[in-house]
Parts: sequence; C-alpha cells; structure tokens
Amino acid sequence: MNRYKVASIPGDGIGLEVIGAGLRVLDTLAERDGGFSLDVTSFDWGSDRYKREGSLMPVDGAEELRGFDAILFGAVGVPDLPDHLTLWGLRLSICQPLDQYANVRPTRILPGIKSPLSGVTVKDLDWVIVRENSEGEYSGQGGRSHRGQPHEIATDLSVFTRVGVERVMRYAFKLARSRPRKLLTIVTKSNAQRHGMVMWDEIAIEVAEDFPDVTWDKILVDAMTVRMTIKPETLDTIVATNLHADILSDLAAALAGSIGVAPTANLNPERTAPSMFEPIHGSAFDIMGKGIANPVATFWSASMMLDHIGEKAAAVRLMEAIETVTANPNFHTPDLGGVATTNEVTDAIIDVIRTRNI
Ligand code: IPM
Ligand code: MG
Repeated sequence: MNRYKVASIPGDGIGLEVIGAGLRVLDTLAERDGGFSLDVTSFDWGSDRYKREGSLMPVDGAEELRGFDAILFGAVGVPDLPDHLTLWGLRLSICQPLDQYANVRPTRILPGIKSPLSGVTVKDLDWVIVRENSEGEYSGQGGRSHRGQPHEIATDLSVFTRVGVERVMRYAFKLARSRPRKLLTIVTKSNAQRHGMVMWDEIAIEVAEDFPDVTWDKILVDAMTVRMTIKPETLDTIVATNLHADILSDLAAALAGSIGVAPTANLNPERTAPSMFEPIHGSAFDIMGKGIANPVATFWSASMMLDHIGEKAAAVRLMEAIETVTANPNFHTPDLGGVATTNEVTDAIIDVIRTRNI
C-alpha cells in the first residue's frame, strides 16, 4: 500500500466548497483502487486567519509543508482585504519558497461542454500552457516612495534570470516532446521589453538545440490572443512569462467553456519540495455559500496531483469519470449554463468511480 501525505489548504470563499468536494472524490478513488491511501491534513490558512492572528499563514508555514507529498489548494482572496495582501500572504508565500517554478495549465474542451467559438470542436483545442511561476513580473521587486505627493513613484520590476528562464524553457520543451504533436509555441514581448524578453528569446533558441525533435515557433503575446481565438488548432504546448501566461490562461479557460473547469499544477519538477495543485478560479464571493461552485477544476487538479505522486491509474480513472459526468448537461453547474449543484456533480463523479468499469 502506498501512503501519501497531502496538505489541504481550502483558503477562502468557494475554495472551502470545492476542496471539500475534491477530498470526497479522492477518498472514493483510494477506496476503489485499494493500492494507495491519502493521509490528509487540513490547514485553516487564509483571510479569516489573517483577521484573527495578523497573518494568512505561519511564518514557517512553507517549511511545514515540506513534509508532505503534495498540496491541494482552494482559493485565496476576500472582498474586504486588498488582493495583493492575500496573494502574497499565502499562495506566493508557498509557491516561491518551495520553488514550484513550472505552473502547468492544461486546456481542453471536455465532452458535453461547448466552446464559445463557433465551429471549434474537441480536436481543435488541446493545449498545455506552461507559466513561469517564480520570477518575471511576479518577482516582488519594486517599491513606492513619496506617497501622496505630486512626485509619488511606484515601480514593479520584472526580473528574468538565466537560471529561471532556462529551467522553464527546458521543462516546456520536455513537455512538448512528450505530447503527440511535439509542438511548442514560445510567447514573448521582446519588441517592447527589450532586455528581459530579449534574453528570454535567446535562451529559448539555446534550449531548442537540445530538442531537435520538437517543432517550435515564437509569437508576441498580443498576437497570441488573436491566434488562440482564430486558429486554436495551430497550438499545442505553450510557454510564457508569469504575467503573460496568467492572462492567456484565463482566455484559454473561457475558450474551452468555463474558468470553472480549468486546473493547474504548481510543479517543483526536481521534487526538492512538494508541488501544489489548485483550480485556476478564485474565491468567487458572489456565489459563496450557494452550493453552486463548479468542482470540476478541483477534480481535474486532483487528477494532476495523483499523476504527479505516481498514482497514474487513479489519475486516468478520475479524468475518465470527469469526462463521463461533463458529457451529461444535467450535471452542468450555472457557469456552464446548467442548474446542477456542487454536491450533485460530486455525487455523480463518485457514483461513476464506484460503479463503472473505468
Ligand atoms: C491565477 C490567479 C492568480 C494570479 C491571482 C488569484 C492572483 O489569477 O492563478 O491565475 O494572478 O496568479
Ligand atoms: Mg489568473
């Protein structure tokens, strides 16, 4: 029996609802599989803790997480605290010290879900976006001086390091090579950002030499939004900076039908620390407590977690269960135009895992 220690951090808003659903599904999978078990520890880190104790997580929180095999994360952010405080106080305070530098965001049109693009079918849109997750525009460098005065100044510095760019490029080329089309698109903005992004392009060319079997091309981020919309079938694996990929992955999620199904993995590929899995969507206070949050993004993220820790069969089984359930519009939550609740979708997935031969 393989035993894994999983840290669960539901966070804020609908994070609690979707992680609750995700843990129920993971339990069912372990039960059905019989070959592994998950020992889950829940952490109450998030905005309520901040209001109570003055910080979203303990100072040594990231160190505490090192003892786990994986982290399942919900969402962070509340209407009455500034977003930069909650983001830096929790999610980035985990990703950055644990060196989860490759943020992987698969996008597909799942069965039963309609893309808002007319004529685009399942086979036209099957992407994986690799987001640089440790530096770039999210480096945290910069500052603010002369507050409130006419000459007030505020800077946010984009930081690109050779190590940081090379490792994410290498990860993206390897991932592209593992997929049938062996096709990588490198997103850049080296026309306007003439230092960091120019180095980004140069390093891409150097790394490409080690992957002669991968076909690759380069595109400016603005033109990329057009290509994703007009010619989605020309794309497969995509690599972009922290901010560019943040924006492109929301577009990708919308083109695939809903942000409510979009998953992500914050990976430490060398496995020197645990990786973290989370839905891309936020804490969605507008629908909190209504029981209608789409749990599919969390289930898909949980499947990525199982794959990463080595439980490949359970990962595939979960994905098949997700696709069986999304194929039935009765199990679509309001973000997909349906009326199903979080519990109904979760129960349906559990039922498929228990009773179908998948
Ligand atoms: C994401 C999110 C976060 C980000 C938010 C919640 C700060 O949009 O994971 O894509 O910008 O990184
Ligand atoms: Mg985002």
